[in-house]
Amino acid sequence: MSTISIATAKEVFDLLRDDLAAIEQEFAQQSNSPVDVITEIAQYLMSGGGKRIRPILLLLSAKALGCTSDARIRLGAVVEMLHTATLVHDDIIDEADTRRGRPSSNTTWGNSKCVLAGDWLYMQAFSAALAERNFHVLDLLISLTQQMVEGELLQIQKLGHLINEEEYFDLIYRKTACLFKVSMQLGVAIAPEQSFASPETLDQQLGEYGRNLGLAFQIVDDVLDLTASEEVLGKPAASDLREGKATLAVIHALERGTGADREAIRTVLADRSFERVAHGQILEILQRHGSIDYAMDTACAYAEAARLSIADLPETAAKRALLWVPGYVTTRDR
Ligand code: IPE
Ligand code: IPE
Ligand code: MG
Ligand code: MG
Repeated sequence: MSTISIATAKEVFDLLRDDLAAIEQEFAQQSNSPVDVITEIAQYLMSGGGKRIRPILLLLSAKALGCTSDARIRLGAVVEMLHTATLVHDDIIDEADTRRGRPSSNTTWGNSKCVLAGDWLYMQAFSAALAERNFHVLDLLISLTQQMVEGELLQIQKLGHLINEEEYFDLIYRKTACLFKVSMQLGVAIAPEQSFASPETLDQQLGEYGRNLGLAFQIVDDVLDLTASEEVLGKPAASDLREGKATLAVIHALERGTGADREAIRTVLADRSFERVAHGQILEILQRHGSIDYAMDTACAYAEAARLSIADLPETAAKRALLWVPGYVTTRDR
């Protein structure tokens, strides 16, 4: 039996440092509009940092298959630009006032300008992707964007309602995991043909890695929203309940709680505030039913499924790095 070790964080960043710097440059270049306010909003978001996890996935997927073409830099910037566009729109929808530890763009520039800047960023991302002259790449990006918009819309329709796990997983697949999956699939799309597996097999296996990892990522994000502070997160904490969103731990407690527990959760979701039921009271209910642990265990199971999805890849530095990412996702604090 062959065993392959997992990379360290330092090894991953050493492996990707130059490419990530090139992606930052590409993003900066792509953010230039003749209309200053668009450039300002795009650069403001870019300079706010962010984990850059989607370009990291694209780079690792491409590298695991020996891709050295510049397409990896362009498409790395494309997935981060698409992500940025969704954040601009998401913060308007969620009426969020902070993002990446700073005032969110909607607070600074207002909703109208930010809607348009988000639209511009989407189109700039597509225009950059068009440079690949690759219909498969466009196909992936178009259905991705539709899935993400559908996810945000479905979420709005379900606000304040008690949803079940199936509905929750459908939502988080669309709004988050789909972009993780497509980032991995784009790496396959620009890589040379492999002798050990067909493009379809690789698309399936690496796509599955992205899907599993993305689900784990959003489950953890939702747990952090319940348990972490705004200071650490750099974005509003306890916001999901205040927005009327039931996430995995809350759904778990709703299914197991006493009548009083369920009533308390329903009240917060319906009021969209902690006025009648305190945040601490909800946390106590979640702890008592092991709901936070349940959500984290579920995230860890998806993280492990991500690792298993790439078991057949040849043993390279990029594969070792892909084996590191799931542990990072489940232990992160922001
Ligand atoms: C935020 O994504 C939106 C979610 C899918 C939860 P990230 O947590 O990747 O945000 P940044 O890019 O690191 O700020
Ligand atoms: C994530 O949604 C944004 C998208 C993927 C479109 P959330 O509203 O749950 O994420 P945060 O908490 O604002 O980052
Ligand atoms: Mg939000
Ligand atoms: Mg949202």
